Order: sequence, then structure tokens, then C-alpha cells
Amino acid sequence: MKVGIIGGTGGMGKGFALRWSQNHDVMVGSRDAARASGAAEEYANLAKEAFGEIKGTITGSDNVSVAEQSDVLVLSIPYENIDAVCSEVLPKTKDSCVVISPIVPMTKTDVGFEFIPIKEGKPFSYQLVSKYVKDKSKLVSAFHVISEKKLVNPTLELDYDIFVCGDDKESVEVVNGLINEIKGLRPIYLGPGELSYMAEIATPLLLNAMIQNKIKNPGIKII
Ligand SMILES: NC(=O)c1ccc[n+]([C@@H]2O[C@H](COP(=O)([O-])OP(=O)(O)OC[C@H]3O[C@@H](n4cnc5c(N)ncnc54)[C@H](OP(=O)(O)O)[C@@H]3O)[C@@H](O)[C@H]2O)c1
Repeated sequence: MKVGIIGGTGGMGKGFALRWSQNHDVMVGSRDAARASGAAEEYANLAKEAFGEIKGTITGSDNVSVAEQSDVLVLSIPYENIDAVCSEVLPKTKDSCVVISPIVPMTKTDVGFEFIPIKEGKPFSYQLVSKYVKDKSKLVSAFHVISEKKLVNPTLELDYDIFVCGDDKESVEVVNGLINEIKGLRPIYLGPGELSYMAEIATPLLLNAMIQNKIKNPGIKII
């Protein structure tokens, strides 16, 4: 599969690229094609160091080119930039493209980490992104509660659950497959996309729990 990562030069993008390059052709996207190529080269070297040979590839290009070629496209960008980036890249995707949103609408205030939709009355990420996706049913929300620090160490064994929300069973299955490929992650389906706010709010919840209780590397696991 061709897996594109919009904003792939960030920490999450690096983690996804390292993990999925074992099986897929990963395309790192950026607003700046040269930055994307540089990051892709760095990630490919790190992946080869960690795994020896990788079955896939890691290449870099501008966000629009990445969107045009992807079978699965991850929107690894900050919440604040959804309108600007999605209006540009999502009209360019293949009709069949599955779009993943790991985007957390979160802000830090005096009291701790807060959920922007509640604090500021704005839409949650899935709602905002779905305005721009060609086929809304192919939008899947996932990966909100796994930190980049854990993903970027490609040999670190994980033991966490990942909440998944989406409307189309086949698209959800594609994302479940990508989650299962990362050893120690388990997909947990929460329901259709309109419930995505429950997955998105889990991140500030986890971060507040971490800080207030001095918990190192917290994650979510349903037992
Ligand atoms: N970090 C975590 O541990 C974590 C965990 C769970 C979920 N998430 C979510 O995953 C997403 C990615 O997280 P991240 O930490 O990798 O984000 P990030 O490093 O802050 O940003 C990712 C990329 O977005 C692009 N970007 C930054 N500002 C932009 C702007 N004004 N307009 C357009 N693109 C811009 C940049 O790529 P270019 O400059 O190369 O274009 C940047 O490398 C976020 O929505 C976050 O909420 C993060």
C-alpha cells in the first residue's frame, strides 16, 4: 500500500514512517518538498538501522503530490491548520483513499490540558476534517492516545489500545490493519465518526493524569 503522511516531518509522522516502512511504501509530505525529502532520507536510514532490510520504502514530497498518490493518507498536522491544509490536499486524493485523522484539538491553560471544542465551542477534529474529505465515510479517527515518543523508537515494544471511529467498515478494517502492524497496539472500535470526540478527548485526559500523578509514559489499555 502507498501510505502518505501529510505533515510527515513532525514527530508523529516520523513514528508512523519508521513503523510502517517495514511493509509499505511510505510517502512523507510537507509544505516544503526539500524538507520532506530530507526527513524521508533520515527516516529510511533509521529504519534500516533498526530493522536491517525494510520491505517498503520511505520517500518525501510536497503535501499535494503525496495526497494524489496515497491509498491511505494520514493527516499528521496540528488542529489549528486543518482548514488551510485539508482544503488544499483532500480534493486531490483518489476517490478510494482512506483518510486517517489522529488530530487532537487540545490547548494548555492554567488548569491543565483542555479540549478545545468544549473550552472554545469549536468543532472536534473529525467534524472539521470531514468537511473536506471527498467521501466522508472513508475518514477514520485513530492514534490519539499514542505518544510520538513511543512511536519513534521503532524497536520499543508497546502495550496500548488505540481508539478507532469511522463510518465505513472496510475503511476501519484498513486502519485496524495498520494499527495491528505496530507490535503491541490493539485497535478498539468506539463507533461511527460522530463519536470521534470521545477518542480525541482521551489525550488531554491522559496528559492531565500523567502530570498530576507523576505517571511516566501513560497509555490506555482496556482490561
Ligand atoms: N505528538 C504526539 O505525541 C501526538 C500524539 C497523538 C496525536 N497527536 C496528533 O497528531 C498530529 C501530529 O502531531 P505532531 O506532534 O507530529 O505535530 P507537529 O510536529 O506539531 O506538526 C506536524 C507537521 O505539521 C506541519 N505544520 C506545522 N505547522 C503548520 C501550519 N501552520 N500549516 C500547515 N502545516 C503545518 C509541519 O510540517 P511541514 O512544516 O513540514 O509542512 C509539521 O512537521 C497533531 O494533530 C497531534 O494533535 C500527536
